Amino acid sequence: MMIHGSKFIQLLVYLIIGLQCMEFSLSGAIRCMDSERDALLTFKGGFRSGLDRFSSWKAEEDCCKWRGVGCDNVTGHVTKLDLHSPDPFDILQGEISQSLLHLPYLRSLDLSQNNFYSIPIPEFIGSLQCIKYLNLSNATFRGPIPSSLGNLSHLESLDLSGNGYSSLRAENLNWVYGLSFLKVLDLSGVDLSNAEVWLESINMLSSLVELRLFYCMLHKLPQYVHHVNFASLKILDLSDNNFNSKISDWLFKIGHSVVYLNLSRCQLQGLIPDAFGNMTSLTSLDLSRNDLKGPIPLTFGMFEKESQLNKSSSLRELYLYDNQLNGSLEQSLVQLSQLVALNVAGNDLEGNITEAHLKNFSSLRVLDLSENRLVLNVSSNWIPPFQLETIGLRSCLLGPKFPQWLRSQNNYSFIDISHASIVDVVPDWFWNLSSRVKHMDLSFNELKGNVPDFSSQLQLSLLDLSHNYFRSRLPHFSVSLRTLALAENSFFGSISHLCGILSADNSLGYLDLSSNNLSGEIPDCWKYEQNLVILNLANNNLSGQIPNSIGQLINLKTLRLDDNSLSGEVTLSLKNCIALRALGLARNKLSGNVPAWIGENLQNLMILELRSNTFSGHIPFQMCQLKYLRILDLSLNKLSGTIPRCVFFGMAKETLSLIYYPYTTYSEGFILSTKSRELKYQGILPFVTLLDLSSNNLSGEIPEEVMSLVGLWSLNLSRNHLVGPIPPNIGEMNLQSLDLSSNHLSCTMPASMTYMTFLEVLDVSHNNLSGKIPSGNQFITFESSSYMENPQLCGSPLSKICSIDELIEDPHCSNENEDGEIKAFKKKGTMASKYLHFI
Ligand SMILES: *[C@@H]1O[C@H](CO)[C@@H](O)[C@H](O)[C@H]1NC(C)=O
Ligand SMILES: *[C@@H]1O[C@H](CO)[C@@H](O)[C@H](O)[C@H]1NC(C)=O
Ligand SMILES: *[C@@H]1O[C@H](CO)[C@@H](O)[C@H](O)[C@H]1NC(C)=O
Ligand SMILES: *[C@@H]1O[C@H](CO)[C@@H](O)[C@H](O)[C@H]1NC(C)=O
Ligand SMILES: *[C@@H]1O[C@H](CO)[C@@H](O)[C@H](O)[C@H]1NC(C)=O
Ligand SMILES: *[C@@H]1O[C@H](CO)[C@@H](O)[C@H](O)[C@H]1NC(C)=O
Ligand SMILES: *[C@@H]1O[C@H](CO)[C@@H](O)[C@H](O)[C@H]1NC(C)=O
Ligand SMILES: *[C@@H]1O[C@H](CO)[C@@H](O)[C@H](O)[C@H]1NC(C)=O
Ligand SMILES: *[C@@H]1O[C@H](CO)[C@@H](O)[C@H](O)[C@H]1NC(C)=O
Ligand SMILES: *[C@@H]1O[C@H](CO)[C@@H](O)[C@H](O)[C@H]1NC(C)=O
Ligand SMILES: *[C@@H]1O[C@H](CO)[C@@H](O)[C@H](O)[C@H]1NC(C)=O
Ligand SMILES: *[C@@H]1O[C@H](CO)[C@@H](O)[C@H](O)[C@H]1NC(C)=O
Repeated sequence: MMIHGSKFIQLLVYLIIGLQCMEFSLSGAIRCMDSERDALLTFKGGFRSGLDRFSSWKAEEDCCKWRGVGCDNVTGHVTKLDLHSPDPFDILQGEISQSLLHLPYLRSLDLSQNNFYSIPIPEFIGSLQCIKYLNLSNATFRGPIPSSLGNLSHLESLDLSGNGYSSLRAENLNWVYGLSFLKVLDLSGVDLSNAEVWLESINMLSSLVELRLFYCMLHKLPQYVHHVNFASLKILDLSDNNFNSKISDWLFKIGHSVVYLNLSRCQLQGLIPDAFGNMTSLTSLDLSRNDLKGPIPLTFGMFEKESQLNKSSSLRELYLYDNQLNGSLEQSLVQLSQLVALNVAGNDLEGNITEAHLKNFSSLRVLDLSENRLVLNVSSNWIPPFQLETIGLRSCLLGPKFPQWLRSQNNYSFIDISHASIVDVVPDWFWNLSSRVKHMDLSFNELKGNVPDFSSQLQLSLLDLSHNYFRSRLPHFSVSLRTLALAENSFFGSISHLCGILSADNSLGYLDLSSNNLSGEIPDCWKYEQNLVILNLANNNLSGQIPNSIGQLINLKTLRLDDNSLSGEVTLSLKNCIALRALGLARNKLSGNVPAWIGENLQNLMILELRSNTFSGHIPFQMCQLKYLRILDLSLNKLSGTIPRCVFFGMAKETLSLIYYPYTTYSEGFILSTKSRELKYQGILPFVTLLDLSSNNLSGEIPEEVMSLVGLWSLNLSRNHLVGPIPPNIGEMNLQSLDLSSNHLSCTMPASMTYMTFLEVLDVSHNNLSGKIPSGNQFITFESSSYMENPQLCGSPLSKICSIDELIEDPHCSNENEDGEIKAFKKKGTMASKYLHFI
């Protein structure tokens, strides 16, 4: 074979430099060179903090003995510099001095886990000719990767990962061409979005064993490669890129060597190829979180082994979760029995899995079958061959009997058997938990029985027993708990011993005790709750005042105390909870004014529900400052005065997310009451805006500014003392529900109302409206009950026919109105034409 000219020169250069870089291995006393010691001291001078690391770097001592420095035993040249930070609280910060160039024999340089203040990787690093090992990972470098790194012809390991999302970038990977000894390449997190032909470059690296390009913004996975060069690749991580294509064939050409393959979150489509059978060395395969369809192939790592006696595949970990795989799982299980971890959650797999299917799974430690259409039907005396550490069976059909086989599992740290159709008493042996348990979710079953004391579960971080039939006093818990959800059961009695888990070192972030029979006062012991984000005590029998210490919950985003018997004024300390997005105090016995500080201090509020209390006084104009507010429900109180006009300009001007707790079963919901129904909405909040001021003593006119709330979905001003006309511009709104009933509104209904084509519920009954009911569009669907008790209204659907007089507008109403309105609309420009059309 001919050696190409430039290749030959490269080889020659390598041989010459190679001699210089060679390690000698004779023995004898050596000391470091003065020039290299000085270079190191200059290098040290570049750092401003983390200087403890250099405490052994004393000029008078042999620099070969300095911490982090390594020398050649024979020549005494510095060959190694390892200054990575093992401890995130003791990191080096500073600059990389060019003095490194005076360490010409440096073979290994590790500056990982430090902070170089977002400077680019210095170009001169490419001149450190002898370098074999270069680790600049997680050291806050930014900017383009210098292509001079391609000159490091001895390089065996290059790690530039973890420098922050897209901080480093490379327009192409052509520079890796000369790195013919490279075994390990990790560029995870480097922006390679412009490196179109990345694979062709990498394919030059025939020594490569480990390639990690996790999160590199790659968007092209070449489907075909003529000759695949890296025949010894063992580790391939291409996860978290946007390939948007099917799994490529070239992967299977390197199939025999690959041990670890991670293609998670790559937007892969199509089927899982049978060719995975070629990956006979594969032990860990992650194809999770893609759009893969079809069945689980029956060939994983099995080709070639057919002919051998030992037919079992080498695969130990298989992650296929969050795809759209379908077909039968039972059939695939036969070839998977050697697995240690199997996660196929979140697919569309079917099957009726019996003990026969699982009898060979003796190594299994992690099993997650959640969110499929699977039945696990085993006999009550089955003793599985495995001892699981993770049990994920959410929404598998396990019931109706409580799964007896769990009795044999005494080493798990994670169990999720929620939504599993279990209708049974939880046996006492189940609560004999291992001290390892961290995550326990039994929610959404029909479980009964005793609930034990959890105070000795010192690892327990999540406990979800919600939506069951547990009836007991509130158990005790340990301070390790982060998420506690006991909602929709029959827990009863006092909650005062919660104070036990609210001590200084607690971790509680989520507490949902709603819809139980808890009683007594809310304890006043919330002073260490810096972590609490969601507190839901709604729908119990809690009484007394809202305790003062709740104001210490400065990170609280949801506070739900609705549907209790709380009394007194809203505690002023609550104004410190400035992170609040949802505040629900509805249906209690709270009194006093609606606090003005709500508008002044709780500026992130999106939901404010004070419905059905005895609040009095005016609606404070400070409410207008709540620019994220989407639900304002002050109905069924004793509020008086006029409706502040500015409320309508203020509300819902901007949007915040309501999904802020990393626990999937929680989404902020609310109840929409209209005259005909009470609807419970979950999770559609960003699109909905509601304003309910009904059943108060509000007076004055409906401010015409109401139409500023174009996104308003439901407006309920019924059962007040409002006078004057319905604002003529109301047709500009996209209301779904409008209730103005039982006021003293007068004049004709604006013809523009027919423009509200989403209107499903309309009630203007019990007013003094007059003239003809608008016709057309949605208005053909409303029945006469929408209009009743307005003696002067006429036209369909009422039986009263309009006379000529009634078709002429009451001059008193329209004149006054028209001038003002026309002026208002002229100011608003484009809307004017639409409106004028209706006058
Ligand atoms: C150099 O010395 C160290 C310890 O003194 C020893 O571990 C290492 O094997 C030696 N290296 C060579 C190449 O002799
Ligand atoms: C990067 O370093 C920081 C601090 O040195 C540390 O907190 C973080 O966990 C490291 N990240 C990775 C991915 O190693
Ligand atoms: C890298 O090598 C090329 C020639 O291969 C040379 O032109 C360039 O100056 C070198 N860069 C560095 C930084 O040594
Ligand atoms: C680079 O350093 C980091 C942290 O010190 C380490 O986790 C990583 O394994 C190193 N990379 C290589 C390729 O050795
Ligand atoms: C695959 O990569 C993802 C990150 O994209 C990581 O979360 C996951 O743990 C990896 N899978 C395996 C089996 O290591
Ligand atoms: C599987 O490996 C064999 C032998 O290495 C190769 O000939 C064949 O093309 C591979 N199959 C696929 C689908 O890549
Ligand atoms: C089959 O091969 C695997 C590894 O390839 C080995 O661990 C196992 O012991 C072998 N089993 C038999 C029965 O030879
Ligand atoms: C699996 O889904 C595909 C569509 O993606 C469908 O054509 C096929 O019939 C399904 N197979 C089974 C067994 O449900
Ligand atoms: C279990 O293993 C035995 C022997 O290794 C084998 O004959 C049998 O088919 C396997 N059963 C299942 C369900 O995989
Ligand atoms: C599941 O398998 C059992 C035992 O083989 C059988 O009796 C039962 O009818 C099957 N159930 C379904 C839903 O197929
Ligand atoms: C479970 O299997 C038994 C018999 O083995 C059968 O009677 C029962 O219907 C099965 N249950 C389900 C849900 O398939
Ligand atoms: C229990 O699980 C731990 C890991 O969580 C594991 O190290 C240990 O070997 C397991 N013990 C048994 C008896 O399976």
